[in-house]
Amino acid sequence: MSQPIVVTHPLAQVHLTRLRRDDTPADKFRWHLQRLAEILFTVASRALETSVISIRTPLAETEGHELARPLVLVPILRAGLGLSDAIHPLVPEATVAHIGIRRDEETALPHPYYAKLPPVLGRADVFVLDPMLATGGSACTAISQLKAAGAERITFLCVVSSPQGLEALDAAHPEVPIITAAIDEGLNDHAYIVPGLGDAGDRCFGTT
Ligand code: PRP
Ligand code: URA
Repeated sequence: MSQPIVVTHPLAQVHLTRLRRDDTPADKFRWHLQRLAEILFTVASRALETSVISIRTPLAETEGHELARPLVLVPILRAGLGLSDAIHPLVPEATVAHIGIRRDEETALPHPYYAKLPPVLGRADVFVLDPMLATGGSACTAISQLKAAGAERITFLCVVSSPQGLEALDAAHPEVPIITAAIDEGLNDHAYIVPGLGDAGDRCFGTT
């Protein structure tokens, strides 16, 4: 199995701890999720290709860099919005493509209900964003949808992952790099990550 990149930076772990705590209210949850998203995206984007360009400073001609390819951010609704809200300001030229998937509460199987994908996918560096990788069903489905629409360079970014989700994603899409802040123990009987942080969408949007 290809190895996920686990971001162990102390600031990432401090924000993650605030997300895990059951006494963190929705406003603080969103704030820590956004700060953690900035750190994770900085790592996830470290290998983006740049083109060298000539520029002029107030003093001299010099060389600089610009991103070589378009960027597409793909939050998986709902909880992925908590990540894209923070990452989009870091790369304001990025296109945001939304994919809606909800897990069936009984079976934990993914049900896609929405997708708005841009034509630029085939030329772009694509970042799929979801705080939780539990069974892996949602991530695998989203990435399959993106590939079917032409995406080739895809990275998956999440906050908490389970060993089962990592294995499922690696089996379905072995070439997709995975960036996460934690690999937890496993899943409970309802396919929730343990210790995890609960239902990310509900905690983000106060719908618990
Ligand atoms: C959660 C989470 C992921 C998915 C992870 O979304 O945000 O998308 O579950 O579980 P999986 O790896 O087993 O597929 P949910 O379906 O609860 O939707 P929501 O964000 O709208 O609450
Ligand atoms: N979805 C969540 O939001 N949390 C989990 O632990 C599993 C799926």
